[in-house]
Amino acid sequence: MTQTIATARACSNIAFIKYWGNRNSALRLPANGSISMNLDGLETVTTVRFDPALPADRLILDGKEQGGEVLERVSRHLDHLRTLAGIQTRALVISRNNFPTGAGIASSASAFSALTVAACAALGLRLSERQLSALARLGSGSACRSVPGGFVEWYAGRDHDSSHAQSIAPPEHWALVDLVAIVSSAHKAVGSTGGHALAPTSPLQAARVADAPRRLNICREAIYKRDFEALADVIEQDALMMHAVMMTSSPPLIYWLPTTLHIMQAVQQWRQAGLPVAFTIDAGPNVHVITTAEFRAQLSQRLAQIAGVDRVLEAGPGGPTRLLDEHLSAD
Ligand code: DP6
Repeated sequence: MTQTIATARACSNIAFIKYWGNRNSALRLPANGSISMNLDGLETVTTVRFDPALPADRLILDGKEQGGEVLERVSRHLDHLRTLAGIQTRALVISRNNFPTGAGIASSASAFSALTVAACAALGLRLSERQLSALARLGSGSACRSVPGGFVEWYAGRDHDSSHAQSIAPPEHWALVDLVAIVSSAHKAVGSTGGHALAPTSPLQAARVADAPRRLNICREAIYKRDFEALADVIEQDALMMHAVMMTSSPPLIYWLPTTLHIMQAVQQWRQAGLPVAFTIDAGPNVHVITTAEFRAQLSQRLAQIAGVDRVLEAGPGGPTRLLDEHLSAD
């Protein structure tokens, strides 16, 4: 094989109905389906170059050569794609996030979506969006939702092929905004992968999973109808159910900081006062405050004034993962 190169850009995404726990952790077949919105402007760009001269895979992330677990995870993912292409050639992967590293924004979704789409293109694999989404899932579950654009549903599925994500509405369908209130950029003690493994130890997980189809229906309908009130209620309930599972796992996972709770309470007060605003929280202390474009500036300012909020990132609905013509270079 001669050198082949491709570059892709992927958005991060925020889940409205969360993925938490796997039925099959090797394949990342989730315990329940999930729904998310891609985040425009919070992106990863990744160049993959397969090079017969390389003795091993290399990963340069935000200008720094990576080793250990981070490199191994990328290498394992490339192995899946190499097997599909029937080659063993090693790759140089150069990746950049445009959101601050360590800002507490999950980068695995955009990272593995961009990596999958770029690597498959470099390998000359001609795959459908559905196949790319299922493959991205093997690298990081939430990455399958960054492959298609806009508002996206990940169907839990029964096997590798059926567990994929698909767009349920394009980005222009609804001008929602995610205001990410950064409370702490500290590295998490237990990341998502470790957290998923603990989910079944909570007696609440079975109830959360059993009720997921109801929440998915409400969320999907709320998106179709642009019904903010219905969306607000269901995303807050879903996030709280996931955190109830986290907090009651063995050992317990408590991601919230005092400022997390202050923001949650402020959001509920603002909504009672008539503003379209709701919160959701991933596996960390930062709060994703969802509103409409009309209230973006006002709510961003209010959030920035809360003591303990370091900064506020803003993102509207983003598009699908795309191939780019320009490649990143190692220096
Ligand atoms: C809380 O997709 O990061 O953000 O598959 O182990 O990479 P891995 O987990 P990941 O889990 C995301 C968990 C979440 C909820 C969500 O995005 O649905």
